[in-house]
Amino acid sequence: MKIKTHNTTPYDDQKPGTSGLRKKVKVFQQTHYLENFVQSIFNSLDDFQGKILVLGGDGRYFNRQAIQTIIKMAAANGFGELIIGQGGLLSTPAASNIIRKYHAFGGIVLSASHNPGGPDEDFGIKYNVSNGGPAPEKFTDALYQNTKTINSYPIAEIDDIDLDNVGEMQIGGVNIRVIDPVADYAELMAKIFDFDLIKQSIAAGLITLKFDAMHAITGPYATHILEDVLGATPGSVFNAIPLEDFGGGHPDPNMAHAHELTEIMLGNNPPTFGAASDGDGDRNMVMGAHIFVTPSDSLAIMAANARTIPAYAKGISGVARSMPTSQAVDRVADKLGLPCYETPTGWKFFGNLLDAGKITLCGEESFGSGSNHVREKDGLWAVLFWLNLIARKRQSVEDIVHEHWQTYGRDIYCRHDYEAVDSDIANGIVEHLRNQLSSLPGNSWGDYTVKYADEFSYTDPVDNSVSNNQGIRIGFTNGSRIVFRLSGTGTVGATLRIYVERYERDTSKLKQDAQIALTELVDIAELLCEVKKRTGRTEPTVIT
Ligand code: G6P
Ligand code: ZN
Repeated sequence: MKIKTHNTTPYDDQKPGTSGLRKKVKVFQQTHYLENFVQSIFNSLDDFQGKILVLGGDGRYFNRQAIQTIIKMAAANGFGELIIGQGGLLSTPAASNIIRKYHAFGGIVLSASHNPGGPDEDFGIKYNVSNGGPAPEKFTDALYQNTKTINSYPIAEIDDIDLDNVGEMQIGGVNIRVIDPVADYAELMAKIFDFDLIKQSIAAGLITLKFDAMHAITGPYATHILEDVLGATPGSVFNAIPLEDFGGGHPDPNMAHAHELTEIMLGNNPPTFGAASDGDGDRNMVMGAHIFVTPSDSLAIMAANARTIPAYAKGISGVARSMPTSQAVDRVADKLGLPCYETPTGWKFFGNLLDAGKITLCGEESFGSGSNHVREKDGLWAVLFWLNLIARKRQSVEDIVHEHWQTYGRDIYCRHDYEAVDSDIANGIVEHLRNQLSSLPGNSWGDYTVKYADEFSYTDPVDNSVSNNQGIRIGFTNGSRIVFRLSGTGTVGATLRIYVERYERDTSKLKQDAQIALTELVDIAELLCEVKKRTGRTEPTVIT
């Protein structure tokens, strides 16, 4: 195998965000841009010679081309084996599973998750470590330092690899395996859930379902598992063919972007269950007939009912949620006597807790939930969890949710996003909030009196690493909260996220409309952050 070394110069914008490096495709297409980042990953690793690297992506525009480049660079850097999903495809949770199952050294996942795809849209790349999870901050910090000094990279001068056929080949001492991207994942799901029971419930008509794959990676996974294995009617999975531009859509499973599913579920004669997943298959949205389940409630309901699922029948060790996620799961943990951890936004923060066995389930308000079965959040896993739960309880989604609220009270919740805000204005807002923190406690607006106001910082209980500046929290004496933070996943300007929640214990008021119930808190949030005043906008870009 002939190896050529290219000289290169650093780019100054390769700092990984919440989940890897995400940029416009055109940025990645600049000379050596992708190569610089990939080589900086390899330069941050030790002792990987002869070991296994997993490669796959969500199939978006530039996926195929990038994979060919990475194959040649990984071979030149000395990996012994490359395991690649057929067609260059692997959902994020499936990649995590493959890394764990085949004891790989790590994996490179090509995805910009829920961001749109296409020549003028987004691309992304992230590195996952041997536990199958996203690399921790100390790795991404070292990686960023390497991107600033990189001056060359080696690349194998070999032909492009045939990614479309499953098979194994040896090229210059490197073993290259192209595998079925779905099979190992489907096998894992069958071990976790009671497939026979779900199958019977579908056959008996207790469960009718629609799954919107949003023209993204979960199409083949959901079609195989839900239709072929569990017997859902053909066509239950729609938008099932992954497209490089996701059919022009925004593959983010929420009611704003998964509007096809939302219309079905809120319309006439809906099926009993509806769900959607995102670009790379790690997010989920769950709906029932005429009801949307907030991700925070979904996590709490899963925790409360974990014992109904075969893999968690013996109980769970603990739970975790990201800081802006509602406190619904805390109430369940409290009642069940389980530890509950509050982590910064970003799945990577759950990795240590899962590895140490401190938690079994975790989730985020950003439509992600998962367990110790892999080290990424997992969209289809959440869908199967709900199907298994419905089949066991023989109740509708609506009844399950309402029963949960009756028991624990309801954390009424919503998030307002202001996208593509000028970065200076966004930083000004954060600064303005910071300056008020010490004077806020004791201030009152109507029924809301500030109990605490701080900037969240997290000390990892396993390795004691500290992450500062993880969002601003304003807590009220009645248990309500407002959280502000800047997104770490956007690619244009800054995105300000405002998360509001109010705890309702009065059983006669549990079913109120969230937007109405949260009006006062949303007004207080504006008073504090002045986003409308400072940007001249009248509405958030998206409300979820
Ligand atoms: C990705 C990460 C999540 C995170 C979400 C939102 O999906 O995997 O862990 O919650 O992005 O992050 P952001 O920084 O945009 O709020
Ligand atoms: Zn995703």
